[in-house]
Order: sequence, then structure tokens, then C-alpha cells
Amino acid sequence: MDGNKLYIKGPQRMHGELLVQGSKNAALPILAATVLGKGIFIIHHCPRISDVKHMLELLEDAGCRIHWEGHMLIVDTRELCNYRVSCGGAGKMRSTVTLLGSILGRMHQVEIPYPGGCTIGKRPIDLHLKGLEQLGAVFEHQEHTLYGSAQMLHGAQVYLDFPSVGATENVLLAAVLAEGTTVLHGAAMEPEIVELASFLRKMGADITGDGNPVITVKGVSKLHAAEYIIPSDRIVAGTYLFGAVMTRGEVRLLHVPISHLGHLPELLEQMGAVVEAEEDWIHVRMERQCRPIPYMVTAPFPGFPTDLQSALVAALSTASGTSFIEEKIFEARFQIVEELQKMGASVVSEDSFALMDGNAKLHGARVEAKELRGGAALIMAALAAEGETCISGMEYVCRGYEDINSDLKKLGIVV
Ligand code: EPZ
Repeated sequence: MDGNKLYIKGPQRMHGELLVQGSKNAALPILAATVLGKGIFIIHHCPRISDVKHMLELLEDAGCRIHWEGHMLIVDTRELCNYRVSCGGAGKMRSTVTLLGSILGRMHQVEIPYPGGCTIGKRPIDLHLKGLEQLGAVFEHQEHTLYGSAQMLHGAQVYLDFPSVGATENVLLAAVLAEGTTVLHGAAMEPEIVELASFLRKMGADITGDGNPVITVKGVSKLHAAEYIIPSDRIVAGTYLFGAVMTRGEVRLLHVPISHLGHLPELLEQMGAVVEAEEDWIHVRMERQCRPIPYMVTAPFPGFPTDLQSALVAALSTASGTSFIEEKIFEARFQIVEELQKMGASVVSEDSFALMDGNAKLHGARVEAKELRGGAALIMAALAAEGETCISGMEYVCRGYEDINSDLKKLGIVV
């Protein structure tokens, strides 16, 4: 890597074995949840990525003490004293929006900079605020910051109009110390919700139903520190699996809870891969050109994850026929299309649809990562392309990938 650019000379066949890094989207709400208990937390297999680094900066601002030992993170929340979250730039605030519910839960007041939108969409937080208001919070909208307070947080019947992952997390974080019982209807069912609930239970919370649309939380008076192992990142794993499929490679990914991959193994088989999987590993071998997928739509878990949509677009660009993808979660998540066109892919997108003609012979080009998941997908496309590709904007990829150079080398790639 040279600064924020990565150079890949293709084509290269992905082959090898990798222990996948910890999950960004499990780690972030779990770190926010440490605020709810007083003590010393030990978090294993925590990814050392820039989004986690930013969350930790904010926890330190609030009075916590942080210490890394390899991938083991120690968080001491005994001196937590500050309910004001410092500004970290709108984009950065996105991944820390769950501090809203956890600081409110612990201190009954919170002030955060508005978590602005980002390149994939406006990213509103209306569902978060509506859920927290049903628990007794009151919000004041100031010019750049949002101030929330609650004389007392109380249990309630909370209804989410959409199974928002972040809104589900924020309601859980505010409900665990509330007076009484909260029943959350229309909850997100992503694996990261179950991981957060499991972590909160280890802290002493009383939560049942996580992983289903209705979650019940019985408020308790106090929570304590806990030790936890972050699962491997299902989106990082899925992205590498699409890379293996695009390069007719063979990979084995370790420490990946297969239940977190949803229907991805079946989709890979539909594309022509040979897939073997047990509880926490998956082995994928591809000996032919990808088959096309006539229609795929992104949906809340257990549907196909929006975070893997870009990698699927890249893989289907090389398939032996026409494929069609509908993006139903975010309003601007086809930015990879323009970059793939520079690499010779016959792919177009309009509104929430993308059409891949397939049979593309990708060639090297200068392309730009405009957000995390599209950037990672471009790297997979570069492996399949003839010639050298320069991917700029690697700072976006570093938000979610701890050391993609090292991962690629372990997967047999010369970078
Ligand atoms: C989480 O974002 C993930 N981020 C996203 O991953 C992921 O794409 C998304 O869930 C969906 O799975 C983290 O966990 C840190 P949502 P989140 O609330 O919670 C709309 C990545 O690359 N919405 O489920 O923000 C929203 O605009 C990131 O790792 C409202 O309208 O997602 C979107 O269209 C990208 N009002 C849809 O719901 C709200 O109050 C899904 O958003 C909240 C959300």
C-alpha cells in the first residue's frame, strides 16, 4: 500500500486459510455497552480498525481507560463521568450512534454531535429517537448537537416501523437499566443484535427473544463488567468468499459462525462453488466461471445483507450471463458500478436496481473506493482483472479491515 492507495496486479487466484478478524458491527455496540457497567471489561478478538479506534477515543473522552494487549482490549469504566460525546466529524459519528442509548442509560443525559449521513445514504436516526422517547427520553435538537435527558427511563411497549439495527441496539442499551419491562416489537434480527444481547446478559441484564422480531428486556438496577469474545466479521468473510469465487480459488475461513452467514453458502453453491461448512468454519472451492443470479434483493437479516451487495455486483460482473440486483436498504449503494465500468465490466445501475451483463473480462484500471464495502469489493475485482489496478480511497477500507494486505497474503495473493 502506498499512502491511501493499494496496487494489485491480476489475475491472481485466491487460495489459503485465514482466521477472520473480529466483527466491526458487533464490536461497536458492545464497546458502547461497556458504559452501562462499572468495572474492568476484557474484550477478546476485537478488531483494531479505525471505527473502533474512534469509538475508543470517545470512551476515553467520557472518562474510561483503555488498554490493548494484541487483540485483547481492556476497558475500565469506573471513572466514567462525562455525558458529552466530543465531536468526531459526522461520518465518524455514524459508527458511535449507539453511545446515545448507553450513555443515556447510565447517566440519564447525553449530548452527541449529529451523526450525519454518509455516501451510502442519509442515515436518519428518527427510529432511534422515537424508540428512546417511548422509554421516557426527551431530546433537544441544537444546531450541531443533540441533547437527550430522562428523569427516569421506564419500560414500555416499543414499536419500530423498520427493523433498524442501530435503533434496536439503542433501545436495548437504554432499556436494560430502565424501571420495568420493555417489549421491543419489530426488532432487527442481525447476528450483531444477538451478540450485543449476549454481552449485556454477561453484564447481568435480563434480555430474551433477541434474534427474533420481539425482544423482552426486564430492567435491572445495576450492571457489572464482563469478559467477551467478539465473533469474526461475517461481512469481511463474505467479501473474501466472493473473491474466491471470482478468482476460481479455494479458501478456508476460520472462526466464522456459520449461522451468521445466513443463506450465503447456498448462494455461493448457486453460483457454482463447492461449499463445505461446519459450526465455525467454511471452505469454498470454485473451478468454473460464476453462474449468474437472475434476481437478488437486499433485506434485513436473514435476507441477503446490503453490506455484501457490492461484492456480489463485482462477482456477478464476471458471471456467464445476466444478473439483476435490487438494493432495498440504502438509497445510494451502487457507487461501485461506475468504478467497475472503468475495469471493463458491463454493469449499469439506476435508482435501486443494478444489471450485470456478465462475461466481463475485467482489466486493470485506476479506481476509487468511495465507501467501505464498495472499496473492499473493488479489491476483489482487481484480483480477477488482467493487469494492474490502483485502488485509491483506502482510508475507507481501513474503517472495517484491520490489515487487508496481511489477509490477502494469507490467502495466497501477492500484494
Ligand atoms: C448497521 O447500520 C450497520 N452499521 C451497517 O453496516 C449495515 O449496512 C446496516 O446496519 C444494515 O444492516 C453498524 O452496525 C455500525 P439501519 P444502521 O438502522 O444501524 C433507515 C457497514 O458497512 N433508518 O438498519 O445505520 C436507514 O436510512 C455499515 O458496516 C431510518 O430511516 O442501519 C437505512 O435505509 C454500513 N431511520 C435502513 O433504515 C432510522 O432511525 C437501515 O438502517 C434508522 C435507520
